[in-house]
Amino acid sequence: MEHVSSGAAPLIDPFARAITYLRVSVTDRCDFRCVYCMSENMQFLPKKELLTLEELDRMCTTFIGLGVRKLRITGGEPLVRRDIMTFFQGMKRHLDAGVLDELTLTTNGSQLSRFAEPLVAAGVRRINISLDTLDEAKFAQITRWGRLKQVMDGIDAAQAAGLRVKINAVALKGFNEDELFTLQDWCASRDMDLTFIEVMPMGDLGNEDRIDQYWSLKDLRARLADRFTLTDLPLRTGGPARYVELEETGQKIGFITPLTHNFCESCNRVRLTCTGQLYMCLGQEDMADLRAPLRASEGNTVLEDAIRKAISLKPKGHDFDYSRQAVDGQMSRHMSHTGG
Ligand code: GTP
Ligand code: 5AD
Ligand code: SF4
Repeated sequence: MEHVSSGAAPLIDPFARAITYLRVSVTDRCDFRCVYCMSENMQFLPKKELLTLEELDRMCTTFIGLGVRKLRITGGEPLVRRDIMTFFQGMKRHLDAGVLDELTLTTNGSQLSRFAEPLVAAGVRRINISLDTLDEAKFAQITRWGRLKQVMDGIDAAQAAGLRVKINAVALKGFNEDELFTLQDWCASRDMDLTFIEVMPMGDLGNEDRIDQYWSLKDLRARLADRFTLTDLPLRTGGPARYVELEETGQKIGFITPLTHNFCESCNRVRLTCTGQLYMCLGQEDMADLRAPLRASEGNTVLEDAIRKAISLKPKGHDFDYSRQAVDGQMSRHMSHTGG
């Protein structure tokens, strides 16, 4: 029988943060080209560079043995990776064994009509779907290649399969400011949670573009407060969002505020790319290759040592900053590389 819970010491970083949340990007590919995430002509990795599904399984299983309790699968778009359901089905054994609390994913929703039911069968209960606008033309503009109808069908399929859905919307000035209440109202009517995200300076857009797009969630929150009574909730889902409840509707709204309120002090997560590199922070270059240690031997000691060494190098936090009309802490890495 496979041995997961080795009783090994948990992963603690230099700032006394316990690492219990692993985000795994299973592909760098995507069927959309969102403007803040990718360039239109992305060069994707040759398939032979990718970890195999078996290697991804071994990698995740090793992290779970070291105390990871939450696994979020990302991309690119995770559901465009061939045979990815085999991987999800494999991870179910850790849920069944009680060593993993949550298996989930962040998706653009385009493939959910096919995959919602198999995901539920694999033990997924809750998913995050990225959607910034309810307007067809604006949707096509921001995702370049996406079509709103396909995502709407995906959301229908997810809810029909019994998945709890959270919508992630990047707050973009001059783009979805006018849809604040439309989005909020639509999510309430479908019993979905909604989280707004401040746009981060990543990828290869010019600096001015990011400042032009940036809509602070302080401002967004104030606009919500004009119409609703907001109550801060103590709720934590293990991610960086802070939640409020709209008293009038009972709805939960989340805020992910890397710019206006740095949440790095409570960071509990690291990110594995599809080629087996571990990024210790979304907003820093620090990373460690885990593919070579994984392939070095069949036993996991070399890999475990490499993971511990990587965690001992986790930086304190990101340096994103738009103040003084300039962008600091910008990352040339595309968001799709680490899956957000
Ligand atoms: P739940 O709380 O479980 O719903 O998930 P989550 O918020 O951790 O996951 P999700 O994939 O929905 O994250 C939404 C977005 O928040 C990500 O895509 C990133 O853009 C941002 N985000 C998540 N973690 C971090 C982080 O550690 N640092 C920064 N700067 N942004 C993050
Ligand atoms: N800033 C903030 N969020 C981003 N996302 C992609 N690029 C950025 C960015 N530059 C979000 C997507 C999705 C998640 C994976 O990351 O909209 O919700
Ligand atoms: Fe694809 Fe998500 Fe990036 Fe959009 S944000 S291009 S859907 S990975």
